[in-house]
Amino acid sequence: MTRGLFISFEGIDGAGKSTHIDRVAQLFREAGRAVVLSREPGGTPLSEKLRELVLHEPMDALTEALLMFAARREHLGQVIEPALARGDVVLCDRFTDATFAYQGGGRGFDWQVLVQLERMVQVLPDGALRQPELTIWFDLDPHIAAQRLASARVPDKFESQPADFFAAVRAGYAKRQSEMPGRFARIDAAQSLDAVGADVGRVLSDWMKRTTA
Ligand code: TMP
Repeated sequence: MTRGLFISFEGIDGAGKSTHIDRVAQLFREAGRAVVLSREPGGTPLSEKLRELVLHEPMDALTEALLMFAARREHLGQVIEPALARGDVVLCDRFTDATFAYQGGGRGFDWQVLVQLERMVQVLPDGALRQPELTIWFDLDPHIAAQRLASARVPDKFESQPADFFAAVRAGYAKRQSEMPGRFARIDAAQSLDAVGADVGRVLSDWMKRTTA
């Protein structure tokens, strides 16, 4: 049986990751792999309910962090772990790095408390932590992201934050990458759609060569 793969996609709102996630799913399907496309917060009926609350209701920073992890716990148990056990490719639009970036970086919430919650929620029976094996970070200047978002849909609680907030979220992603450099691939999301797509393709093929070597 083929081994399950877990890949996450990260970046500030407006960084443009969605189009590329669909393309990556297509690439894996063409290679004959079963793909599970999911997102956080969300991915199960309960986690999607939590998503609605956390994206639209005002709440304090700890409540927000707890709801993100509650949604993640459910998502891991119901969707991600079973898919990996079947040998599927799990492509997740955001995972725990988003909590470190948004709640830790953006909101300034205690980083070490997030580390504890991560350990509680993502621990595996052998004591290791479930993490994506590859995280593609679409890195973009918040001012460019704001211009892209201006013409987009009605903003949610996070999308309506000012550029300063997103600068802090971006710094949160950079901090997280410096803590776990092995699984992060940073892509310059200010490039054209095609150039970003080409970078995503390169990251994936380099990574596949390394993991199957
Ligand atoms: P998206 O699905 O549009 O990318 O958005 C989900 C929003 O939730 C986005 O603004 C980032 C935010 N978010 C957090 O603040 N913490 C998290 O842990 C996750 C997964 C998302």
